[in-house]
Amino acid sequence: MSSLTLDVETADRENRNNRLSQWVQETAQLCQPDRVYWCDGSEAEYQNMLQVMVLSGVAIPLNSEKRPNSILVRSNPADVARVEDRTFICARTKEEAGPTNNWEEPESMKARLRHLFAGSMAGRTMYVIPYSMGPIGSPIAKVGVEITDSPYVVASMHIMARVGQRVLDALGEDVEFVRGLHSVGAPLAPAQQDSSWPCNAEQKYICHFPETREIWSYGSGYGGNALLGKKCHALRIASVQARDEGWLAEHMLILKLTNPSGTVKFITGAFPSACGKTNLAMLIPTIPGWKVETVGDDIAWMKFGSDGRLHAINPEYGFFGVAPGTSLKSNRNAMATIARNTIFTNCAVTPEGDIWWERMTVEQPPELIDWLRRPWSPEAKRPAAHPNARFTTPARQCPVMAPEWEDPNGVPIDAILFGGRRAGVVPLVTEAFNWQHGTFLGATASSETTAAAAGKVGQLRRDPMAMLPFCGYNMGDYFAHWLEIGRSAEAAKLPRIFYVNWFRQDENGRYLWPGYGDNSRVLKWIFERCEDKVHASETAIGRLPSPGDIDTKGLNISEADMTRLLSFDLKGWQAELPLIKEHLARFGSHLPDGLQKEVADLERRLKA
Ligand code: OXD
Ligand code: MN
Repeated sequence: MSSLTLDVETADRENRNNRLSQWVQETAQLCQPDRVYWCDGSEAEYQNMLQVMVLSGVAIPLNSEKRPNSILVRSNPADVARVEDRTFICARTKEEAGPTNNWEEPESMKARLRHLFAGSMAGRTMYVIPYSMGPIGSPIAKVGVEITDSPYVVASMHIMARVGQRVLDALGEDVEFVRGLHSVGAPLAPAQQDSSWPCNAEQKYICHFPETREIWSYGSGYGGNALLGKKCHALRIASVQARDEGWLAEHMLILKLTNPSGTVKFITGAFPSACGKTNLAMLIPTIPGWKVETVGDDIAWMKFGSDGRLHAINPEYGFFGVAPGTSLKSNRNAMATIARNTIFTNCAVTPEGDIWWERMTVEQPPELIDWLRRPWSPEAKRPAAHPNARFTTPARQCPVMAPEWEDPNGVPIDAILFGGRRAGVVPLVTEAFNWQHGTFLGATASSETTAAAAGKVGQLRRDPMAMLPFCGYNMGDYFAHWLEIGRSAEAAKLPRIFYVNWFRQDENGRYLWPGYGDNSRVLKWIFERCEDKVHASETAIGRLPSPGDIDTKGLNISEADMTRLLSFDLKGWQAELPLIKEHLARFGSHLPDGLQKEVADLERRLKA
């Protein structure tokens, strides 16, 4: 395979922003691509990218009768997930990056990166992708430009963000933008054969320069490492912008919940990667008359509106969802969304040319080609799809997108959920006493790790607000910012905060709660708590429903299981307290007084 060129005009788009032109020129000089292509965001451009990928062997087209206009991409086994140990926050000082981030001094990191990027795009096309995170023109949206040498990134960015000429128009002469430079780090010598997934197996750097709002990403072509609008911009850089400007950039889904009498509440939820955000955002309630619609499944930007309430937008335009486990049973709406116009990555392929992954169907297919391009059958006793296999699909295709999902003013938020995967101790749902206590619940959130990041699966880690890998500055200061947000609004106008855990198990590893559509029963309690219409009991850890407060009509669950799910486990929490203290101690003098007080209060309540 040789490197393929585009058979379209690589004309300079109408760009009036001199800083952008200058940066593109400097970058081309540094990276030495064979050509520079400014993306216009058109359908023809998207089709060209798919074509380039298919011709280069990176992608195969799927059977157009089963999966119209869709492709399957298979990456290099050395490039399958976000690389947290290669992700850096290059703030001015280590202290500003804080104890949870890798840090390097900005100038020395830039020097190292300049060296790596020099000539890194030789033999390739350098694409310039102007993108908007959020509806173009929204007061909450922000513009970025990603420069990349990967057609996979261009096609994926078409789905995940609003891209092209309309963004250049919005950028005008002087609008600020985030600069994202990305290279797969695999230059081609003249006539050198390209590999089917170019990347750099030895060197990967995902670097953020918060002061200058820059991202430099080298060596990986996968997901959050490479689609810079998502984790790098919309969370790591945006969290710093949000701190500076008084808003919140969070790793949260946004859903619209309507009760049988037509009253609406909007809810955001922060859960670590691969803990079911997409499923919750698209949930089909099992309780009659209730409706869930989707606003976003991964990121929420929340700003105070003129009504004094927090309003959220989904800055993304598509879903980059974890494929394994997605099925008609777990998420029928996601299955409908990915019926067409979708990029699948690291899934298995059926003899008919469609995709498959673990638990998509009850029966495993008798034969497949696995994500490593090897013949597979159930006897192989290994997963056919990579556990972090993904679908990249346009949000507008989701049958339950809320009509408000592109509202430039965002949706007013009534409740915020935190959560994670915990087999024990943490109840099904807990309501915080107030904003400060809710911030404490978020700051001490914990979860068993999943395959979304490289590393061991199933280990317990504290993942504050599900932002551990995504906060662009000192997390102690981030907690202080949350408390500050709480102080800047009338308490009654702030969202209520809840902590949920769908993943409680008994001693034999059996899940106590059915999850999926039945999570609507918990959402109903949350909705009614927001209106003070349903009972909750005060406990040392927060307000808990009694078993009778959760609507279990039609659900086959024993009273014993409900009691366990909703009980306050005093011994378990007494054992948890030192772990919480140890976790918060990491933040030293950056830990805000409000959270110190919450620990002391919890300790006192656990003794009472
Ligand atoms: C994601 C993640 O891809 O959180 O959304 O890892
Ligand atoms: Mn995520």
